[in-house]
Amino acid sequence: MTTYAVTAASGQLGAAIVQALTEAVDARHVIALARTPRKVKIPGVDVRPGDYNDAAVLRDSLSGVDRLLIVSGMDAPEKRIGQHRNVINAAKEAGIKQLVYTSIQGAESGTGFSPVVQSNRQTEEDIKASGLEWSIGRNGIYIEPDVDYLENYKQRGGIDNCAGDGKCGYTTRRELATAYAELLMNSKHNGQTYNLHGQAISQSELASYLNQTFGTELTYREMTFEDYRRDRVAELGEFIGGIIAGIYQGIQQGALNQPSHFKQVVGREHQSWTSYFQSLR
Ligand SMILES: NC(=O)c1ccc[n+]([C@@H]2O[C@H](COP(=O)([O-])OP(=O)(O)OC[C@H]3O[C@@H](n4cnc5c(N)ncnc54)[C@H](OP(=O)(O)O)[C@@H]3O)[C@@H](O)[C@H]2O)c1
Repeated sequence: MTTYAVTAASGQLGAAIVQALTEAVDARHVIALARTPRKVKIPGVDVRPGDYNDAAVLRDSLSGVDRLLIVSGMDAPEKRIGQHRNVINAAKEAGIKQLVYTSIQGAESGTGFSPVVQSNRQTEEDIKASGLEWSIGRNGIYIEPDVDYLENYKQRGGIDNCAGDGKCGYTTRRELATAYAELLMNSKHNGQTYNLHGQAISQSELASYLNQTFGTELTYREMTFEDYRRDRVAELGEFIGGIIAGIYQGIQQGALNQPSHFKQVVGREHQSWTSYFQSLR
């Protein structure tokens, strides 16, 4: 029987992937790694420590694992590369056969988000060079944070950013989890890199979905990149604010309007936005 492990299982994506795996295989064959193990609340799975900064602990925790999913980290891009290398090296030393990695879509140069994208591309290369079997998903942008941000949008009276008419291939953590469970369980995906997202929509379309769902009257108002960056940095600080502004700059440039391979992986279309927003009513 194959044993699976998922990193960052205390986070929303990691937990969703562990959940999706346990719906497909016996939970006793699923190991949840977490920097903060006490935060993992999924019944039946073996929870082990897994801080990306601690190579020795990672190696011990990966003992007996056949296939490992690595959720990309949250630290500054240059630090992430080394953290991900700790996980890859620990996986090799622990005798793991296959790695799956949650990478990202986005502009690889010229935006405030590009250093993050580049760090993800470096980890993709490190995984390919590991000598282990691998498959890689490149995630679209989560749509849930826009729903979580609704009160702020209401207070502002609209969605303001620099994406313009650019379309964004959004996704949900739940749909990603379904796709990643499939990548872990089915070796036909070895050696493949897949874009994982649903139908690409504009900010005006996003405003319409939110309005239909929550009875709001949001409009989309385009800002210049400079104004939007200033706005985000004032609210979120230089690091995260710069990244967020860079994501919308990339949307404006078309970098997040890519073909999706979701159906190729899961065997059905990604959930439609009509269905997703109906589920929130
Ligand atoms: N596609 C998108 O739109 C999008 C948006 C935001 C982020 N992301 C990426 O997707 C990843 C997962 O997203 P999410 O929604 O699950 O985020 P989340 O709910 O904030 O969870 C982040 C996870 O990363 C873990 N983590 C942070 N530093 C770590 C370290 N040094 N070692 C081990 N684990 C560490 C956290 O552990 P603790 O519980 O110990 O804090 C937590 O489990 C993020 O890490 C980020 O790379 C993608």
